[in-house]
Amino acid sequence: MFKPDLLRGKRVLVTGGGTGLGLAMGQRFLELGASLAICGRREAVLKAAAEDLSRSAPGRVAWHVCDIRDAAAVEAMLEALWRDGPLDALVNNAAGNFIARTEELSPRAIDAVLGIVLHGSAYVTTGCGKRWLAEGRKASVLSIVTTYAWTGSAYVVPSAMAKAGVLAMTRSLAVEWGGRGIRLNAIAPGPFPTLGAWERLVPRADLARRFETKNPLSRPGRHEELADLACFLLSDNAGYINGEVVTIDGGEWLQGAGQFNFLAELSEADWRALKPKKG
Ligand code: HXC
Ligand code: NAP
Repeated sequence: MFKPDLLRGKRVLVTGGGTGLGLAMGQRFLELGASLAICGRREAVLKAAAEDLSRSAPGRVAWHVCDIRDAAAVEAMLEALWRDGPLDALVNNAAGNFIARTEELSPRAIDAVLGIVLHGSAYVTTGCGKRWLAEGRKASVLSIVTTYAWTGSAYVVPSAMAKAGVLAMTRSLAVEWGGRGIRLNAIAPGPFPTLGAWERLVPRADLARRFETKNPLSRPGRHEELADLACFLLSDNAGYINGEVVTIDGGEWLQGAGQFNFLAELSEADWRALKPKKG
């Protein structure tokens, strides 16, 4: 789909890049010539992922243990990364989430999700941004949000609040920093099965299929579909796309929104009976 050197020369940091969608995006960035840095809290996970990724891209993968909720740790990671040269792109992918009845959430539970998604994304974005602005460097930020960043969603309220904030950050900084060469965009995925998300968000095995197929295409997303979209948005070919959120959900959220979409339930006979009688 892309020229094999689409991302050659770009150095990309993917937060939470050791697992799931972050790992899938990192793999594809490497295939298209980028250098990659990944971070997360679990050293063993990052080390294993980096070893795996390095097999096909030797010398182009770095990893850093970093809890992005900790602003000082983020600053230390960025200092270390910049010692080897500047980054060209950031993917805000790290997230925390679980389903719960909101009235049962403790303050620590709310803080856990807001800390990772809202504060963490802000720390990494501003940390990179101030360096790029000081250097006069062109760069790009891509944040992985969700469609409930604008619809809201029951049972994942801290996540919805935080993702809405990340989307607001994306649109705000696209204007504030766009004129100085920094583009910010977001991707809103529908269901893309990953271990991290499914073990926290799918409460019963029998609900997994429903979650994965409640969209017009009746299937979940494939990791490579999301990874290709991320490559395009980070590439120079997307140089005029700034402040945008691209939904990749098979039409899931629109299906839930359209007032008459439930009429897919009507039978052939129902539709025939609705036609005006001729003559
Ligand atoms: C209620 C919960 C809870 C749950 C944790 N808590 N899980 N409360 N229901 N299921 C509460 C704890 O009791 C504690 O509060 C507080 O949250 C912090 O919990 P810890 O386990 O100490 O936190 P921590 O180790 O920092 O872990 C953070 C986490 C965890 C967010 C809770 O799930 C995590 O590490 N997640 C990272 C990966 C992840 O979430 N991936 C999925 C992303 S998917 P108290 O008061 O008891 O101390 C995604 C998809 C969106 O975002 C859209 C899908 C379509
Ligand atoms: P995942 O595999 O659980 O990925 C989350 C990653 O974030 C993990 O690698 C985790 O590593 C890292 N992380 C969590 N807290 C962190 C912290 N404090 N500091 C640094 N890293 C941290 O889940 P996923 O499904 O791939 O999700 C990836 C992104 O896609 C998330 O932004 C999610 O909201 C979004 N998304 C996913 C779906 C889906 O269907 N899968 C749908 C919509 C949006 P550690 O635990 O080692 O820190």
